[in-house]
Amino acid sequence: MLHGDKKMSKESILIIDFGSQYNQLIARKVREENVFCEIVPPTISADSIDLSEVKGIILSGGPASVYQKGAPTCDPRLLSLGIPVLGICYGMQLMAKTLGGTVEHAPSREYGRATLTVLNHDMLYKGVPKDSVTWMSHGDKVKKMPKGFTRLAMSHNTAIASFANFERKLFGVQFHPEVAHTRHGKAILKNFVKGICRARGDWSMKSFIKDTINEIRMTAGRDKVVLGLSGGVDSSVAAVLIHKAIGHRLACIFVDNGLLRKNEAKVVREIFQKHFKINLRCIDASEEFLKALKGVTEPEKKRKIIGRTFIKVFDREAKKIGNVKFLAQGTLYPDLIESRSAFGGPSATIKTHHNVGGLPKKMNLKLIEPLKYLFKDEVRRVGKELDIPQEVLGRHPFPGPGLAVRILGDITKDRCDILREVDDRFIQTLHKENLYDKIWQAFAVLLPIKSVGVMGDERTYENVVAIRAVTSVDGMTADWARIPYDVLGKVSNRIINEVKGVNRVAYDISSKPPSTIEWE
Ligand code: XMP
Repeated sequence: MLHGDKKMSKESILIIDFGSQYNQLIARKVREENVFCEIVPPTISADSIDLSEVKGIILSGGPASVYQKGAPTCDPRLLSLGIPVLGICYGMQLMAKTLGGTVEHAPSREYGRATLTVLNHDMLYKGVPKDSVTWMSHGDKVKKMPKGFTRLAMSHNTAIASFANFERKLFGVQFHPEVAHTRHGKAILKNFVKGICRARGDWSMKSFIKDTINEIRMTAGRDKVVLGLSGGVDSSVAAVLIHKAIGHRLACIFVDNGLLRKNEAKVVREIFQKHFKINLRCIDASEEFLKALKGVTEPEKKRKIIGRTFIKVFDREAKKIGNVKFLAQGTLYPDLIESRSAFGGPSATIKTHHNVGGLPKKMNLKLIEPLKYLFKDEVRRVGKELDIPQEVLGRHPFPGPGLAVRILGDITKDRCDILREVDDRFIQTLHKENLYDKIWQAFAVLLPIKSVGVMGDERTYENVVAIRAVTSVDGMTADWARIPYDVLGKVSNRIINEVKGVNRVAYDISSKPPSTIEWE
C-alpha cells in the first residue's frame, strides 16, 4: 500500500512488475491466501511505501536479462526496508546482481518442468518435500550468490535454483511458484506470505465490501454520483455497492439503445429498481440510436456512432439530475494493470470504457471506481455477497455496441426484433440443456443474405442466422463450443419454427484467433 492511496485494506503485499506474463497469476495466488496485494511498476520508490501496511514485496519475473541495456531495475533500497522480499526468476537475478552476486547467461534455456531438490527446509520450504516438480522458464541464472546468502535448492540445470539471506529476510526462486505446474508452489507462496511476511490473511470479500463502502462515503461526501448501468456484472456490482454506501445520492442511468437482448430493460428494472430500490432512470433512446445508425454498415463506424450517441444521451440525462460531482464506473484490475507499461512508464492512466470514454472530462466529473483492484471472479464473489441474483452474475458478456455488431449490414428495428427472438431461443435452449454456464459466450448473428427454403408447400425466401458459442478463459483466445448435435438440432428447430423471417441456421465453428468472437 502506498502513502496517500486511500484503499482501506490493512495489510498488503506489493508485486513489482518486471513484465512477466505470470504477474496477474502471482497476485491471484497471494489473494487466495486472503491477503490483499497490488501490482506496481518498478519505478516505485522505497520512500512511498507505507511500512505499517506493506508486509512484503515480490519482485516478479520478466523477459529481460539483468545485464541488458535498458533492463528494468528497482529502487535498491526496497531490499533494505526490513520487510521480506521474494524475487521470482528475473526478480531473483536482479536481487543477486543488486547485492553483489553475479548472473550468467545459461548456454541452454531451461523451459518447462524441472525437479527441484530442496537443500534447506527452513522458512520458505517448510513442509515441501525434498524433491518436487517446478516450472522453469529462464535463459539466465544466478552464478554467484551475494555475500550473506545461503543456497536453498538446486535443479538438474541450475545449481542455485533458490537462495536466501535469512537475516535480511531476502529470498529468491528461479522457478515460478505461481504456476500450477509447480507442484508445491501454493505452499511456497503461503510460507512466504503468511510464515515469513506474517500477513494475517483477513482480506475477504466481506471485509472488502465493508472497507469499500466506508471509502465511497468518505470520497463522495454529500455529493451526487452518477453511474451508467448496463445490466452486466461489473456495472451491476458497482451500482449495488455504491448504493449501499450512499443510497439515493447514487443515480443510475440505464440507456436502452434499441440494441439490447430480449427483455433486458425489463430485467434491469425489476432487479435494480424494484428489488434493490436503486434510484434508476431507464431511458428509451432506441429511436435516436437507430436513426443515427440508419444506412451504416461499416463495423467501426457503427461503434463510433453508438459511443457518441451514448455520451450525448447520458450527458443529457445526467444534467437533468443536476449537481453531480462523480461518475462511477465498473473498471476492473486487469484494465488498470494493462493500461500501465510493464517497464515502469507513468503510473496508472485509466483505460477508458468502450461506452463512456470521454464522459468524465466532458461533464467535469471525478471518477469513482470501486472495483478497480478486483479480478472478475472476485467481482462475482462480491456480487454474491451483496445478494445480486445469479441471473446477473452468471450472464455471458455482452458487447457495448450490442446487437449492432451482430447484425451484419443495415440495422433496422425489424432486424433487431428478429435477432432478439433468435438469440432468446438459443439461450433458452442452452439453459434447458444445462450448457449455459459451461459456455463463455453464446449468441446469434443475423446475416445480410437470404436463402430459399420450403415450409408446408410454400417456397420461402428468408433470413439466414448463424449461432456462435465459444469457450474461453478471458475472451482473448476462444474455441468454438462442442455443443452436442442433438442440442444444435433442437436450437435450429426452435428458431426456424418459432421465429418468423428465418429459414436457415448455421453453426459457427471458428476459433479465435484467427476469427474473433463477435462477427464485427
Ligand atoms: P472479440 O470479438 O474481439 O471479442 O473476439 C472479445 C470480447 O469482447 C467483447 N466485445 C466488445 N465489448 N465493446 C464491448 O464492450 C465492443 O465494441 C466489443 N467488441 C467485442 C466480445 O463480446 C467478447 O466478449
